[in-house]
Amino acid sequence: MAGIERVVVRRMELADVEAVHQIDTLSFSLPWPERSFRFELLENPLSRAWVAVVGEEKQIAAMMVLWLIVDEAHIGTLATHPNFRRLGLGARLLAHGLLAAREEGAQQSFLEVRRGNLAAQALYQRFGYEVTAVRARYYRDNGEDALLMTLADLQSEACRVRLTAFL
Ligand SMILES: CC(C)(COP(=O)(O)OP(=O)(O)OC[C@H]1O[C@@H](n2cnc3c(N)ncnc32)[C@H](O)[C@@H]1OP(=O)(O)O)[C@@H](O)C(=O)NCCC(=O)NCCS
Repeated sequence: MAGIERVVVRRMELADVEAVHQIDTLSFSLPWPERSFRFELLENPLSRAWVAVVGEEKQIAAMMVLWLIVDEAHIGTLATHPNFRRLGLGARLLAHGLLAAREEGAQQSFLEVRRGNLAAQALYQRFGYEVTAVRARYYRDNGEDALLMTLADLQSEACRVRLTAFL
């Protein structure tokens, strides 16, 4: 990965929650409460939470929570710290999470994204997600629509190759 060194993607731990919550707060107008991340780690067996850490000091630069619901991988949240965007971390994290979910049997993946969030939509389109539904006025802060995006071919070899290219 050009421009950034010593990137490691690993499962999120309790000790990461403060830094993860900070990224969440910097990234979303409706961030999760900090306790939600602890709940995901301690109490939600469907949850697969990941972080990307960078540099010698192993700073947490990106985070993702994915829910594995039977054979569906739902992206609950994904964000990169503003200081580390456009360095490939979001893509790398998403690819790790989806490949792990694929190994656990996930057949497809779903997520919701704001209609105006073109950066995230561009990322998801590169992974093969397509808009399959619109949830009108889904977001309670500004009444923005959510686009439901679906990745349908998670078990295919073509998808594995596509995802692996982001690692
Ligand atoms: C969306 C987000 C997670 C992307 O993270 P990132 O680490 O910057 O993304 P990457 O560097 O891995 O980008 C991979 C590709 O996604 C696309 N992309 C990412 N950010 C983009 C932007 N601002 N504009 C256009 N395309 C973008 C590009 O195709 C990019 O590849 P490229 O840099 O080679 O052109 C990040 O912008 C973010 O945290 N946003 C706020 C939170 C958010 O919206 N999360 C998603 C909620 S559904």
